[in-house]
Amino acid sequence: MPQIPIEIDDEGFVKGVFPEPEEKKVQGRTITVAEKQIGGITYSSEWFQYCGVQTYAGVDPKADQDDYFRYKEGAKYEWQSQEVSAGNKVHIDDFSDYKTWGNDIGKAGVGKPALVTWRSQDVPSSETMTAQIIRSTHVEEQAHNNKWLQESTQNGFIANLNKCTHFCCIPSFKGIAGAKKFGASNLIYCPCHQSIYDPFQIVKKSFVALPRPEEE
Ligand code: FES
Repeated sequence: MPQIPIEIDDEGFVKGVFPEPEEKKVQGRTITVAEKQIGGITYSSEWFQYCGVQTYAGVDPKADQDDYFRYKEGAKYEWQSQEVSAGNKVHIDDFSDYKTWGNDIGKAGVGKPALVTWRSQDVPSSETMTAQIIRSTHVEEQAHNNKWLQESTQNGFIANLNKCTHFCCIPSFKGIAGAKKFGASNLIYCPCHQSIYDPFQIVKKSFVALPRPEEE
């Protein structure tokens, strides 16, 4: 699933970076593209163009959105439903116990997760972009010798768009008890067809989400 680079503002609120839109001339036509160089990689709004997300309001580079992560209603994490309110912006202090946090799925101390929304203020619920954020010491450790992670994560926070690239279901990190049966209690697990994603092993992949039109 596509990673969302992280930024933490001066007050400690956590946001996902969305590349700034700019106009480009391509073959005589002016088009709007949203791209940014991060850690030697071209980060583009195209990363989110799959599973129908390409038509969501928040993916439009010109959408009037503030990019902050906000807690999502109905998350599977007890801590999230008890300690923070849906709709509130994610704050670094909410994750101060990330080094030891655990629930009854997998080991404690792997990372503290939350289910959040991104670039989806005042859009229809069917167009809400859902993201998984995790704060983990694994991210901090790996960021020491990985330029991309150094620049796309902060204070151990990492995020991804939470839509399974297999068939568009909603996976979860330490949120689904059935993950144990597939050895995925400490990984991101998708219950639809048992896809497993390791949030701490970032791989560069490109895929074409939609078929290209036939050449004439
Ligand atoms: S949709 Fe996630 S495994 Fe198939």
